[in-house]
Amino acid sequence: MSERAAILVTRKMPDVVEERLKGLFRTTLNPKDEKHAPEKLIELSSHFDGFMIAPGDAFRAETVKRLSERLKIIATATVGYDHIDVAACKTRGITVTNTPDVLTDATADLTLFLMLGAARRAHEWIDILRTGRWGGLGFTSFLGTDLKDKRLGIYGMGRIGQAVAKRARGFAMEVHYHNRRRLPCELEEGAYFHRDINEFLRHSEVLTIHCPATPETRHFLNAERIARLPDGAIVINTARGSVVDDEALIAALKSGKVQAAGLDVFENEPKLHPEYLKLPNAFLTPHIGSATRETRTAMADRAVDNLEAFFAGREPGDRVA
Ligand code: 8YV
Repeated sequence: MSERAAILVTRKMPDVVEERLKGLFRTTLNPKDEKHAPEKLIELSSHFDGFMIAPGDAFRAETVKRLSERLKIIATATVGYDHIDVAACKTRGITVTNTPDVLTDATADLTLFLMLGAARRAHEWIDILRTGRWGGLGFTSFLGTDLKDKRLGIYGMGRIGQAVAKRARGFAMEVHYHNRRRLPCELEEGAYFHRDINEFLRHSEVLTIHCPATPETRHFLNAERIARLPDGAIVINTARGSVVDDEALIAALKSGKVQAAGLDVFENEPKLHPEYLKLPNAFLTPHIGSATRETRTAMADRAVDNLEAFFAGREPGDRVA
């Protein structure tokens, strides 16, 4: 290539990755970390050969249709790509890449953190401590639940689901899962596969969601499926908010059908359903599954690997369109 490709990096990236970008491309960074509206991204697309983006940069079909012919690749520094209309990009001949693998462990760690937080009533105990109510509590006050010997139901046994299973075994949980396909025996490591979703739900004393957001998984966890969980189940979601029907889960948290939830993701985030904030048995974090220094750096690096391969004329490792 005679001239180096022009890349717009839509959000502030780790310094070390920004240095790498500057060495590879004519790079435009965003040191103030200001969010670009879709209209702005459309306008900027005529000045760049590639975009390196982050969550929050939405590329819906109507935006993709209006991107400049010049833009050849969108490299998202995320594993999920539900913020990009991949079909529209394919039609326009725009390559899309994501960053699988590198955030598996951090997301699995957060899943266990939420599981423990929900089971041990972390939100309530932290509140008791911070509001000076510690002294007045008795032997049987605010008791949580052990994870040990509980049946864990993993909905979606991909990379993250499998990493959660490994950790859960360390807590002596019994692992069950539902997936489109049964895993080979060596990856199953003794986990029980349930093809039948109702059988799977019936076994899920702790249910954790690890499927992608698709039209098929939207509101998977609805009132009917919650009714099939054991009474007092715990629900964890570090995948995507759209997989849960908020009204149904909130009703179940209020009735006690679901004793506690640990949620990192929300439909329409950051505007989560306001009722969640009122529920003492909801242990909530603001979509921080991959938010460690090591993991965010690895994600950004992986997005750069994809850009580098693409502009060197090689196949990018993580093409999704
Ligand atoms: C988030 C993620 O992007 O990569 C993904 O798909 O969901 C996460 O890494 C990140 O936590 C910021 O929302």
